[in-house]
Amino acid sequence: MRGLFTASLVAAGLAGRVFAHTSASHNDDGPVRRRKSLGFGPIHPHAVFRANPPQVHAEGLAPRADADPFDVARRFAEVESQGQSYYVRPDSYTDKNTGVTHVYIRQLVNGMEVADGDMNINVKDGVVLSHSNSFYTGSAPGVLDTTPEAATVHAEFCAKLGDELVNHHATFAASSSGQVVMGSQADKEKLEPIQHVYDSNCAHVDLPSQFATGSDAATFDPYKPLLQFMIAAAPTRAASADILSKYDEYLSKMEATFEHHLVGGAEQPLGHIANVPSTVSPVKARFMYVQVPSGGKTALHPVWKFEVEMEDNWYEAAVSVSEPHHIISVVDWASDSPIPSPKPPADKKGATYNVFAWGINDPSEGNRTIEKENFDAHASPAGWHALPYANDPQSESLRKKKTEFWRNTTTTWGNNVFAHEDWEGRNAWVDNYRPDAGESLEFDYKYAPKDTDSSEALEEAQKYINATVTQLFYTSNLVHDLYYRYGFDEVSGNFQQYNFGRGGKENDAVIANAQDGSGYNNANFMTPPDGQNGRCRMYLWNTASPYRDGDLEAGIVIHELSHGLSTRLTGGPANSGCLGWGESGGMGEGWGDFLATTIRSTSNYSDYAMGAWAANRETGIRNYKYSLNETINPSTYKTLDKPGYWGVHAIGEVWAQILWVVSQRLIEKHGYSDSLFPPTPLANGTVPEGDFYRPQEFTAAGVPKPLVPKHGNSLSVQLVLNGMKLQPCRPSFFDARDAIIQADEILTGGENKCELWLGFSSRGLGPNARVDGRTPWGGGIRTDDYAVPSACKPETVPEEPKAPEDDDGDEFIYM
Ligand SMILES: *[C@@H]1O[C@H](CO)[C@@H](O)[C@H](O)[C@H]1NC(C)=O
Ligand SMILES: *[C@@H]1O[C@H](CO)[C@@H](O)[C@H](O)[C@H]1NC(C)=O
Ligand SMILES: *[C@@H]1O[C@H](CO)[C@@H](O)[C@H](O)[C@H]1NC(C)=O
Ligand SMILES: *[C@@H]1O[C@H](CO)[C@@H](O)[C@H](O)[C@H]1NC(C)=O
Ligand SMILES: *[C@@H]1O[C@H](CO)[C@@H](O)[C@H](O)[C@H]1NC(C)=O
Ligand SMILES: *[C@@H]1O[C@H](CO)[C@@H](O)[C@H](O)[C@H]1NC(C)=O
Repeated sequence: MRGLFTASLVAAGLAGRVFAHTSASHNDDGPVRRRKSLGFGPIHPHAVFRANPPQVHAEGLAPRADADPFDVARRFAEVESQGQSYYVRPDSYTDKNTGVTHVYIRQLVNGMEVADGDMNINVKDGVVLSHSNSFYTGSAPGVLDTTPEAATVHAEFCAKLGDELVNHHATFAASSSGQVVMGSQADKEKLEPIQHVYDSNCAHVDLPSQFATGSDAATFDPYKPLLQFMIAAAPTRAASADILSKYDEYLSKMEATFEHHLVGGAEQPLGHIANVPSTVSPVKARFMYVQVPSGGKTALHPVWKFEVEMEDNWYEAAVSVSEPHHIISVVDWASDSPIPSPKPPADKKGATYNVFAWGINDPSEGNRTIEKENFDAHASPAGWHALPYANDPQSESLRKKKTEFWRNTTTTWGNNVFAHEDWEGRNAWVDNYRPDAGESLEFDYKYAPKDTDSSEALEEAQKYINATVTQLFYTSNLVHDLYYRYGFDEVSGNFQQYNFGRGGKENDAVIANAQDGSGYNNANFMTPPDGQNGRCRMYLWNTASPYRDGDLEAGIVIHELSHGLSTRLTGGPANSGCLGWGESGGMGEGWGDFLATTIRSTSNYSDYAMGAWAANRETGIRNYKYSLNETINPSTYKTLDKPGYWGVHAIGEVWAQILWVVSQRLIEKHGYSDSLFPPTPLANGTVPEGDFYRPQEFTAAGVPKPLVPKHGNSLSVQLVLNGMKLQPCRPSFFDARDAIIQADEILTGGENKCELWLGFSSRGLGPNARVDGRTPWGGGIRTDDYAVPSACKPETVPEEPKAPEDDDGDEFIYM
């Protein structure tokens, strides 16, 4: 049992997957290094997402379109919360793109936050369009309830967690079709330490006596829970063993500084804990509740909520206060890729880059050309090579120039992206090497790798570092500008050093590491909450000679940057814990594949594989190509039940395939736009007429309505992004599907409702699709539904009238 258990953790822990090397190998002495990653947490059987909920109006008045949306949300929350207390999170915002106000509400019990007690209320024109609710509904416990009852509740959850691991492994071993999860003994060992923290009974084993619950529980300090977490999270078995052997020493070295604010929000004081082993910055700690399942309902459990930045992970973890060996939930903000109002500077001379142009997915699809700094003046008003001194991480060393507002750069250093080599695979990045094009801003560098002996392959790749950093900078900036125009802007949490006075938190451009030395054959992205830099690490792939460089495969870069997009848009900019595991975590992968595939596609339909060039494998790094043909890609919702489908990448592949099928329905109806980039707005803010959007419409009051992309591919991207903003924290496939359908209702009045339902239903995600017995790691028994709401049945006579809930997909309430 123990052996099985350990092995299954290997599968659970590793978000990425590997390819057998087909050529040069660095197995023994080399830097081939896989990342350990943990992700699990309680399910919330009572959580709901409802479209078109009954409205709550003041004193029986009809909704007023000009009502303050925050008032509307507060009134709604007042009723919906049933007397529970809460606060409105400051990262709530009104989306200029859609006119929808997204109000994020966090539950408070005994004055403490309930980390997973969330309401997301979407309001437009005085009406609550949809809302989600995962509030704890029981009575408030004692402030620190450590009664045996609370402990039992938790033990029940832990037991389930352990059982599932064992069961999953039993089925998992049977499948390795293309998606090899892990292989080597060395990798297995990395995950063994978590075994110290869980066994199938969730009782801790082999731990020093200090870990015992009971007497220690009274102290409630964060040190033991944190050190316990580090034993599980430490990157190697040796690192875990080191913590265990010097437990007291580490404990005594840790030092917490708590920030107390005179006028605080509702949040508990934030602690910064220094000297924590295996971390790269002080750990942030807050005292909160989380909900653990208890017979169909949930019970509250007091936890320390940690934000732990490590070399290869950035965890948000909830660890029991009273039983420090119990990790209740953990989300890794790092996601792997595949494997296998000052005026901005005017009249700037744009830079040029010798790159694989936008739309060329990888070097097998075309040659490099000289491309212009093609920035969108709305998305990047200062261009890609300027940022204010005040927001420049290098400004300390640039003191002399501080009288100027803008710093113009001649390197791959700008307001949206800092791109550079990271051959050493370290966290340091500010002073890493980046190409400097000088005054000319011509980033024109050689890329001509030669086939070499494997011992020289790495050096050969390093010869074109100038070209590869240039490419990474170019692709990442275009992704910034593209997503901006579909609504990933400052208030919704995008990545910029300076926000031009447009709201949101700044100083969070993407740190993009090219040829990162911390691994091979993968890529990853870490998304902390708004206001902290995202970190993107691209690797070389030793799948061929010469090595292939992930920086040059746009699909991989886009996939990674899309983690930042979906994480910031789901559940609000300041909540990075919404896509941690199971279906939610899977969709976090799936959106990236879908967007990368949509971006590379052309008006001539084709199937596409993900990462095929880098992986040097025709079918790429997933099980199947994305395809309309059910023989080529047979995935349906129920595929998630199959062995091998509980890792986020496999789940994501199913989601991306479903979105691909749905988007093709929209393309069939609305045609295809050769460019996904909308035209740049004019100085007066209007978008010039053209073929991209439908003609501008106005409300009765003369206010312009949100612009609607004219074509199927651009509309799909718009609906997918808008759906992310509407869906709840920890969304299921059903929630995300319903959010997309609602996004269409808001944007077009629901004119694509049937195309959307037909697309979702064709892959089993019809209105009566179900999952029974969801589990902490994302398991459950799924039932496909190929039906569509009756109004959408093709070529049938209208049905006899039925109750509206039966007819209208929007009326379903998914539990
Ligand atoms: C930055 O570039 C703009 C436009 O080219 C120029 O007006 C400005 O003086 C430059 N700033 C510095 C500090 O060189
Ligand atoms: C790149 O250019 C070379 C020579 O001009 C040509 O032979 C090759 O087919 C091109 N590669 C691609 C992928 O278009
Ligand atoms: C990168 O470009 C610079 C000139 O900007 C050059 O001096 C340097 O040698 C190049 N690096 C490599 C590895 O080719
Ligand atoms: C689509 O295919 C047609 C016919 O083969 C070709 O002429 C056209 O250039 C293709 N379009 C794109 C965008 O690849
Ligand atoms: C689907 O793919 C299979 C296998 O490649 C092929 O035999 C079949 O003709 C395809 N079906 C359609 C409708 O293209
Ligand atoms: C914005 O400017 C354009 C071009 O100058 C003009 O055609 C359009 O009418 C203006 N729109 C508004 C709302 O002022």
